[in-house]
Amino acid sequence: MRIGPTVAAAAFFGFVSGTVAPAAAQGDIKLGEALLTRDCARCHAVGRGGESPNKQAPAFRTLGQRYPVESLEEALGEGIMSGHPDMPEFKFDADGVGAIIAYLKSIQQR
Ligand code: HEC
Repeated sequence: MRIGPTVAAAAFFGFVSGTVAPAAAQGDIKLGEALLTRDCARCHAVGRGGESPNKQAPAFRTLGQRYPVESLEEALGEGIMSGHPDMPEFKFDADGVGAIIAYLKSIQQR
């Protein structure tokens, strides 16, 4: 029977695209990574591994151990954490903030 595998494959792909993060969210994660790499990587470890170039700057994958990464949403949108002198102020638009949070969530170590 020839139709079987095709139907099974269609069902499989339907299943995958329906349950795993939708394409838009995947795009967000990539955008978030790009923004953080551009603006933050000179001090922070942005990815799933590696040390922060600036020893005092926490690796982004560890932020979730201290507080939910969603709590950064406001700080990112309003001009982030000017509390310490080493870190310049950054401000992202709503899309950028959403993308950054999506990316941070995707890399947190539990
Ligand atoms: C010039 C270096 C530098 C850059 C660039 C930088 N940071 Fe930081 N960041 C630091 C340092 C140093 C600390 C630790 C400060 C401390 O503990 O007082 C820090 C701390 C943080 C923290 C933890 C704050 C807390 O209270 O837990 C977050 C979140 C953070 N940075 C986000 C970012 C983001 C997002 C970017 C890019 C948009 C960025 N940083 C860019 C140096 C930097």
